[in-house]
Amino acid sequence: MLNSHTIHAPQILTIERHILEMQRKFPEATGALTGLLYDLALAGKLIASQTTRAGLVEILGKEGSVNVQGEQVMKLDRLADETIYRLNDHTGRLAIMGSEEHEDPLPIPEGYPKGKYVLLYDPLDGSSNIDYNVSIGTIFAIYRRKSATGPGTLEDCLQPGRDLVAAGYLIYGSSTMLVYSTGQGVHGFTLDPTVGEFLLSHPDIRMPQKPTYYSVNQGYENLWSEGVRQYTYYLQGKKKGFKGLSLRYIGSMVADFHRNLLTGGVYYYPAVPSQPQGKLRLLYEAVPLAFIAEQAGGYASDGRRNILDIQPESLHQRTPLFIGNRGLVEKAEEYIARYD
Ligand code: AHG
Ligand code: MN
Ligand code: MN
Repeated sequence: MLNSHTIHAPQILTIERHILEMQRKFPEATGALTGLLYDLALAGKLIASQTTRAGLVEILGKEGSVNVQGEQVMKLDRLADETIYRLNDHTGRLAIMGSEEHEDPLPIPEGYPKGKYVLLYDPLDGSSNIDYNVSIGTIFAIYRRKSATGPGTLEDCLQPGRDLVAAGYLIYGSSTMLVYSTGQGVHGFTLDPTVGEFLLSHPDIRMPQKPTYYSVNQGYENLWSEGVRQYTYYLQGKKKGFKGLSLRYIGSMVADFHRNLLTGGVYYYPAVPSQPQGKLRLLYEAVPLAFIAEQAGGYASDGRRNILDIQPESLHQRTPLFIGNRGLVEKAEEYIARYD
């Protein structure tokens, strides 16, 4: 017999069921987006299975090659990159892909059907943390193609965040989670590794009104603009009227963002003289997380304008980023407008 505890227990909902139920709200949907999201969840499982074995198999360490960002490519980056590409190159859902690890857009191989969506991804975010058992992630962004038919084009990839159809991330931490939005709120799923299913654990995530943390690489403080310095003093409670926040910085943007999404707070990576455009990539990192932030009631800015309104000019364009609670990000804009 059911007792009251059983009746009130939350539903067990797999990511597959959740995506399908979301799709049902759109009678015109063909199922392509549903399939694409489901394949990204599968990619996440495959990558998670490798990250958790990272110390056991010969996949650790630098591979020796340097990616288009001038950074060392590590083996797990390559593995994650190939996993995502190969899971999606033949499904007929995509017209083209773009990866942080490749200078040019990634075409769908000849002989495979071309679909109506575009997938941009950062296969492994926080790769400097791989060797040290610190959380890392994968970020993805999905657009509708602009070109009519045939292979997708660079222009298909260069769309403003406003035109996103869906975005999300996987985080490989003490557990593996997938967080995504199709513009109907933000939903988080935790992988149950014993059965290999992502189960809905964080329905309709909203950023708490009262923030807890600020997250920045404070080691670069002497390189910051006056506006960013003054803003940080504000966050530290050195200005009147605000008692200040605690500092947390992991150095994996997905992990820093995810924590702040659940606790409230702000993450920022400002421009410095040696990186006048900032470090983070607009299309692979800033835009998808900006979309998630906005869907959870937050906001993302480059210090002067909404990240989602920026028209990208190149695939690997960088941007300064301030992302988190709306009030905190608007404060950054205020300080930057006043001092910089
Ligand atoms: P990636 O590993 O994809 O190159 O991204 C790393 C990014 C971001 O995840 C992180 O917040 C930031 O770089 C850390 O940079 P610093 O080490 O300069 O703080
Ligand atoms: Mn990254
Ligand atoms: Mn990366």
